[in-house]
Amino acid sequence: MSASNRLFSGIQPSGALHLGNYFGAVRNWISLQEKYESFICIVDYHTLSGDYSPKDLPKLTLEMALDLLACGVDPEKTVLFVQSHLPEHAELCWILSAYTSYGDLTRMTQFKEKAQRAQFIKAALFNYPVLQAADILLYKASHVPVGEDQIQHLELVRDVTKRFNQAVGKTCFPEVKPIVSKGARIMSLANPETKMSKSLGEKHYIGLMEDLKSIEKKVKSAVTDVGLQEGETMSPGVANLFTLLELCQESLGEEKLRQEIEQLRVEHGSGRLRYSDLKEVLYHALANLLKPIQDRRRHLQVKDAEKVLRQGRERAKSIAEKVIKEVRALVGLLPQK
Ligand code: TYM
Repeated sequence: MSASNRLFSGIQPSGALHLGNYFGAVRNWISLQEKYESFICIVDYHTLSGDYSPKDLPKLTLEMALDLLACGVDPEKTVLFVQSHLPEHAELCWILSAYTSYGDLTRMTQFKEKAQRAQFIKAALFNYPVLQAADILLYKASHVPVGEDQIQHLELVRDVTKRFNQAVGKTCFPEVKPIVSKGARIMSLANPETKMSKSLGEKHYIGLMEDLKSIEKKVKSAVTDVGLQEGETMSPGVANLFTLLELCQESLGEEKLRQEIEQLRVEHGSGRLRYSDLKEVLYHALANLLKPIQDRRRHLQVKDAEKVLRQGRERAKSIAEKVIKEVRALVGLLPQK
């Protein structure tokens, strides 16, 4: 029943979508939905593994659905749904935890980083990659488009898949292939040594729905450099601005912008580039990219998103139910009569 062109990916409903999410993942979901059978899941069970507010979570979950629709996730082509609407995710997580090595989980970089910052280290944070494996395998997905920070988790998924298939003596789950693109590691504009993320605070990310004035301010105050380090051809901050600019150009497909970028690169190569010019071009490119998305978002209604999620759940359920039934039998759980 597995499909060789089934795509699965997920995103946490932990607040505003930012440019890292967009260029690392969401933009690819939108182009890939044309040729893959796509499942995109808003992973609210995952959010429980960190600090969060139970009062805000339902609203954030709905807002994430609205944001994704505004970006161009098309419910005719993509099954968009909420993880906790299908408890099969949690059940498969438990089953797969019996096929996951404790040692491997202790080596997960994200766990180590987040555990270091947490006062109370939740077991859910430790088990998080098993739930991620369950998400993907519940749909027997073959392809998973993600940013670079998720690669180690996907390697773990491949280990779990192999161990499970071997134990049950059958290729129940396919081997997943990550899809990683040019925008896989967008850095913070305020500190280009760390990736763009919400957890570091306001100035470390640019939200897709953020007011353009505020975006302009963040771009204009982006950290660049005051001369290069020895052996460096471009500092991380400037490289990040060029990456963002090129990604905008790819999305907008504007020839004039492509030529402008070429010119800026030449200027950089000859040491004549004024960073204020680079920032000016980037701000306008971002504004052109984000304006239509923000306009679409304003016109979307909560009831539309609710309908999409309801239909998404039904479509996801038809697969999830079959797979969980197959897995229960394979691991020896007594069927209900
Ligand atoms: P999350 O919600 O942290 O991020 C969603 C997607 O955005 C990518 N991303 C980035 N890409 C480039 N540069 C950045 N600075 C940046 N920040 C975030 C992430 O790599 C991700 O692709 N564990 C996942 C959610 C998940 C999932 C899954 C993903 C749960 N189950 C199954 C794939 C398959 C997460 O927390 O993503």
